Amino acid sequence: MKKPVLLSTLGAWLLACAVPLANANTADTVGKKIYETTCAACHVNGVASAPKPGDAKAWAPLIAEGQAILTAHAWVGVRAMPAQGGAPDLTLDDFAQAVAWMASASGGNWKAPDAAMMHRIRHEAAERLEQDIKAKKAMKKMLERD
Ligand code: HEC
Repeated sequence: MKKPVLLSTLGAWLLACAVPLANANTADTVGKKIYETTCAACHVNGVASAPKPGDAKAWAPLIAEGQAILTAHAWVGVRAMPAQGGAPDLTLDDFAQAVAWMASASGGNWKAPDAAMMHRIRHEAAERLEQDIKAKKAMKKMLERD
């Protein structure tokens, strides 16, 4: 009579493993991987004050900006943070996963962005780019006056 017990124990164990996997936040896997390959070069050591994952104090004001705004502004580039994380081939979706992982590792509870969140991020990024283009056009106008 030992076999069924063993099998049901095995079954319960498999189920226990499968449930968290099915619910896993993809930012924990995809986002972390992108962070490691593309973002860590600067962020792991805080190069030029890049906020380090795990530094809750540095991340608190960033997390307060909200996922859509922070992700969009970082994507377009902000101060010493290069646009697209300095990786022109990186998609916005992958970038957003990396930001979600970094924020989650630093006191935020950000999930991998779903379709609705990606829509908001795209909208914010487009607006931010529009502002940048206007500023650059104004600069160009100044040159034309010379
Ligand atoms: C070449 C170095 C470098 C790389 C590579 C880099 N970052 Fe950054 N990042 C920075 C620096 C520096 C800052 C701080 C900017 C500042 O406040 O001046 C920053 C800031 C940020 C911020 C906060 C933006 C804000 O509004 O203050 C986010 C989010 C971010 N990075 C995400 C990423 C992600 C995601 C990647 C990888 C896909 C990445 N970074 C790759 C240097 C880098």
